[in-house]
Amino acid sequence: MRWYVRRAPDQMDTPVITTTDLRKVYRSRDREVTALDGVDLAVREGEVYGVVGRSGAGKSTLIRCVNLLERPTSGTVEVAGRDLTALAGRSDRAPAALRAARAGIGMVFQHFNLLSSRTVQDNVELPLEIQGVTRRERAARSRELLDLVGLGDKARAYPAQLSGGQKQRVGIARALAGRPQVLLSDEATSALDPETTRSVLELLRDLNRQLGLTVLLITHEMDVVKAVCDSAALMKGGRVVESGTVAELLATPGSELAGELFPLGGAASGPDRTVVDLTFHGESATRPVISQLARTYNVDVSILGAAMETYDGRQIGRMRIELPGRFEDNVVPIGFLREQGLQVDIAPSAEPAAPAVPAVAK
Ligand SMILES: Nc1ncnc2c1ncn2[C@@H]1O[C@H](COP(=O)(O)OP(=O)(O)OP(=O)(O)O)[C@@H](O)[C@H]1O
Ligand SMILES: [Mg+2]
Repeated sequence: MRWYVRRAPDQMDTPVITTTDLRKVYRSRDREVTALDGVDLAVREGEVYGVVGRSGAGKSTLIRCVNLLERPTSGTVEVAGRDLTALAGRSDRAPAALRAARAGIGMVFQHFNLLSSRTVQDNVELPLEIQGVTRRERAARSRELLDLVGLGDKARAYPAQLSGGQKQRVGIARALAGRPQVLLSDEATSALDPETTRSVLELLRDLNRQLGLTVLLITHEMDVVKAVCDSAALMKGGRVVESGTVAELLATPGSELAGELFPLGGAASGPDRTVVDLTFHGESATRPVISQLARTYNVDVSILGAAMETYDGRQIGRMRIELPGRFEDNVVPIGFLREQGLQVDIAPSAEPAAPAVPAVAK
């Protein structure tokens, strides 16, 4: 497609979606729900950004506030340098300037929201009709978009004749019709089976890479974040409690998101063992610290679990290791690990002490 420019690395730092102290309070006669409680979010150009959190955390409210489908109670939303909250004005009807800005934001829905009485092609053309694009141009664009999402042969089919994954591809093609710079997706894959989910995620990733499309997606599945996201945020009770690139999260000691994305697991294999969580970041990630530890102190180090990723030639990640002996016996080796620049956290010993189980069944 011609209208996108492939992302250049130096564009990655430009925020394309920014929310500042975003609040949304739903008020009814007898109660008040604070769905967003001061959300600051910065999604950079060309990245896939995942928002995760439990049901009711405020994820859908956030995404609906980003395109002003929902009007924030306070705070600002900027998309591609435009302050949408300022464009929204005070009346309930969206002014023309806001409608124009929204054309640059595509949205994909969990339940596809296709019109059953229209063909696939006519569904994709719908936003272009609303924009007043000529029939000829619409037809050319929708054909191009359907080819892009792998449905070139389904233009004349009706939604009822498609599988769930195909319907979502139509939803994605329709979302791209207005040549958006950003694509918002609220649980786009949660109605799909795992294999179809994978193919739709691959499509989103391809669109992101090929077209430089910025994607903000909401999901409750960590696997989705793992498969496609460059960055992620965790929401709880209307707030963003953690956020960053996957590498930054991995390098953050105690990060709940990193823990859920890359569970280390691994409990002590018996009593009189010390379990230590290490976070590798910066310089420490380039040295063979574990083998040095084993050699220098002549200890048998067991690796219980590890999640390491390579970014810019550096290894970043977390590792859970086990040392023989109690904590008091390991003060010196632990001191060595700290000296190497690693973040070292001692995992709490399993309580209450379980009866000793042999590590290897005989
Ligand atoms: N239109 C509304 N009126 C009143 N309260 C609402 C409205 N929409 C959402 N809420 C409330 O705001 C809170 C956040 O809802 P939201 O839909 O954003 O959560 P979510 O993180 O998307 O959850 P889920 O994972 O279940 O989709 C919830 O307490 C919800 O009940
Ligand atoms: Mg939701």
